[in-house]
Amino acid sequence: MDKKNRVKRIFDGISRRYDFLNHFLSAGIDFYWRRKSLKLTGISKNAKLLDVACGTGDFAIAAKKRGVDQIIGADLSINMLKIFNKKRDWSNGNVVQSVAEEIPFKDSSFTNITVAFGVRNFFDILEGFKSFFRVLELRGKVTILEFRLPSNSMIRKLYSFYFNTVLPKIGKVISKDKEAYTYLPESVNEFDEKINIPELLTRAGFSNIENHSLTFGIVQVVIAEKL
Ligand SMILES: C[S@@+](CC[C@H](N)C(=O)[O-])C[C@H]1O[C@@H](n2cnc3c(N)ncnc32)[C@H](O)[C@@H]1O
Repeated sequence: MDKKNRVKRIFDGISRRYDFLNHFLSAGIDFYWRRKSLKLTGISKNAKLLDVACGTGDFAIAAKKRGVDQIIGADLSINMLKIFNKKRDWSNGNVVQSVAEEIPFKDSSFTNITVAFGVRNFFDILEGFKSFFRVLELRGKVTILEFRLPSNSMIRKLYSFYFNTVLPKIGKVISKDKEAYTYLPESVNEFDEKINIPELLTRAGFSNIENHSLTFGIVQVVIAEKL
């Protein structure tokens, strides 16, 4: 099965348990990471925001809580979008089933794009970034929040133990899907070795790239501008 369909099947399958698992496995710190990313971006209340790989919508909802009201969520998985649309904090906002690599909007439609924990799942990251560049206005910004392998060797060991041993076990029991939570550490390890987000953003045309590290370097926030 190709990556696009494998990823779609995994997220369609775990959609109902995704939020619980996400907040439980990260001890709720994921809410802070999204808030901090928006703060680092300096997103304005007048932003026209596209939240790509929005899933059940926590990044879009965090932006809404900061006063942004023009928001569209886009995701490959229809089941994740269904959960998003049922959330009280969102109440049937705009969502569209779409892949990042082919965003169905006109050029220069948005001032901001956000992606949390989505990029490593894209089947073609460079194509995704090119499509972000196309739909952003001039001076528009993309904000990417993603896991990374920490550089400190002690923290790296703890992190690898948690991701490779603890998380798949808990994930399997709660999600009842063995593949979903072995896929996560696989994708984080592979991603960090092979993918350089700032480099790909530069190749897609972005400038002024900032790279921030949060929580002992286990997540990164990359912000880039279309100039
Ligand atoms: C780990 S979830 C993150 C959801 C949400 N952004 C959050 O912060 O909780 C990853 C999401 O990326 C979506 N996804 C994966 N590949 C995609 C692609 N190529 N285009 C659009 N969405 C994609 C999945 O369907 C899933 O909902």
